[in-house]
Amino acid sequence: MIIAQLTDLHIGAGRRLAYCKVDTAGALEKAVERVNHMVPRPDIVLFSGDIGDLGVDAEYGLVAEILSALEVPYFMVPGNHDQRMPMRKAFPAATPIGSDQTYVNYVIEGYPIRLIGIDTLDEGRPEGKLAPETLDWLEKALSDGSEKPCLLFMHHPPITVGITHMDVQNLGDGAARLARIVEAHKDRIKAITCGHVHRPIHTVWAGVPLIIGPSVAHQVALDLDPAGPSAFVMEPPAMHLHVWDPAQGCLLTHLAYIERYDGPYPFFDANGKLIV
Ligand SMILES: [Fe+2]
Ligand SMILES: [Fe+2]
Repeated sequence: MIIAQLTDLHIGAGRRLAYCKVDTAGALEKAVERVNHMVPRPDIVLFSGDIGDLGVDAEYGLVAEILSALEVPYFMVPGNHDQRMPMRKAFPAATPIGSDQTYVNYVIEGYPIRLIGIDTLDEGRPEGKLAPETLDWLEKALSDGSEKPCLLFMHHPPITVGITHMDVQNLGDGAARLARIVEAHKDRIKAITCGHVHRPIHTVWAGVPLIIGPSVAHQVALDLDPAGPSAFVMEPPAMHLHVWDPAQGCLLTHLAYIERYDGPYPFFDANGKLIV
């Protein structure tokens, strides 16, 4: 099973450039085209938040228009640039929660690995928060007596990464309890994937792999100077492909660029002989 994680779309209404610079709508169109033409094609796409830039209807309308070309089922969780109700209204199938639910927490079944979307949005705030209801819900979802492997996906990472202006807006409230829940189920949680930081970053947290995905548009500057300014760079847009390998019982995460580059070329030795 192949899961494509696309994150931090930051779509502006009317194809407005993000930060007066980034053609995020064009970037999403390229990402959709890339996923559609992958061989083998991903089974599912997970959008891990910052779908819109201001979280308004017109942005989600444009996202829906672009995603109408996506030939793969998809789901999404909100990021700090989103607003729940407009996002849910535009994407009811991609945010499958009950009308009595406030938070966008849900389980996707029907695949060899169970996919669990977690809502970290604290509306109007850049940093993330896990509501007690969300943590109660997650604890219950993981305590169903099943041994089926799980992948958790959410927007804000529960760690700091050394990039100061992102670290001040990581997941705050609820992270410690989340760690306890994850630790208790670490044998079946194969990874936690996040967005928000706009860079591929990997570590181990609460006994499981924690994987932050690159943006399909712009990337946050890699600046480990504690006094570094808030800045982005136009490094190559990319996505993560999470491949569930049941034979090894592990999740393999590949970085896949959206753009196509020169190649592939066969390997030849110095005598021009094909190396197989
Ligand atoms: Fe973002
Ligand atoms: Fe974000």
